[in-house]
Amino acid sequence: MTMDSPENTPPGLERVPRATLVQLRSFEAVARLGGVGRAARALHLAQPTVSTQIKELATAIGMPLFEPRGRGLALTPHGELLVGTVREIFATWQRFEEQTAELQGLRRGRLRIAAVTTTEYFLPDLLGPFARAHPGIDIELAVENRDQIIARLERNEDELTAMMLPPTHLPLHRWPFLENPLVIICALGHPLTQRKRLKLAQLTHEPLLVREAGSGTRLATHQALDEHGIEWRPRMALGSNEAIKHAVRAGLGLAVLSRHTLGDDPAREGLAVLQVTGFPIRRMWHLVWRRDRALSLPARTLLQDIRSRLGVRTAPAP
Ligand code: PGA
Repeated sequence: MTMDSPENTPPGLERVPRATLVQLRSFEAVARLGGVGRAARALHLAQPTVSTQIKELATAIGMPLFEPRGRGLALTPHGELLVGTVREIFATWQRFEEQTAELQGLRRGRLRIAAVTTTEYFLPDLLGPFARAHPGIDIELAVENRDQIIARLERNEDELTAMMLPPTHLPLHRWPFLENPLVIICALGHPLTQRKRLKLAQLTHEPLLVREAGSGTRLATHQALDEHGIEWRPRMALGSNEAIKHAVRAGLGLAVLSRHTLGDDPAREGLAVLQVTGFPIRRMWHLVWRRDRALSLPARTLLQDIRSRLGVRTAPAP
């Protein structure tokens, strides 16, 4: 093998950048999460480590990347430019990893999946057989609320995404694969549980507990109330399905949650599902993936696996 002469060096490679990939990863996390502390927690690093990486990166680039704004940090124009570049670098690297996996078949590789929080009650069961059949494929499952999951889709971070309400502003394949009934729950023993058929309007004097802003469950709840022309102002917002269940059990109010968040017998958790006209709201869980991205072999195999086990007839179009 002969060495390339310097004239044949591809553009950009004559001078090796002084920034490291580790610094770039920290920089991207600070830019995305709006603070060094949050980025450090997300990356499982110490805060001073991330601060130092950002300082060294700014020195290597020769320009400040952040400026203080309010209580947090905002990107400078150079920082804005760099964050786009960094995401392109990492997206290219990810494509390389996926192509490597393609060459290796299903023996080795990585599959990045994102899912809204409510799917955590059933997704591990769905992934289990695939994970056991292909121990060489590392599965990275990110679990966040709908808004955060949409941001990940926009950044093209994952191959497959499980969610209830896919966004319409992105080019996506959507595969509805499982029903997602949304029910109204109250504490076990609540007087309303004695009633056979309730109308939504009969509940509005009870406190309504909802998920945090950005949650798909909260969005679906508001959509359903709008469809019924009912005004039911939330009394409290809580950051997780489990927090809602605890609060409902403690008698703090009623809530609309996916039936999947409850076990087979809600009474065992101190909860009851109310019989309300128009409920359960019938929604679907979707697996979605970007149209502008070719699915890797592990991702295609997982889709086929889920399809054959659920017996879903609508074929995904990988
Ligand atoms: P979430 O999940 O409430 O955790 O966001 C529901 C969804 O968006 O599909």
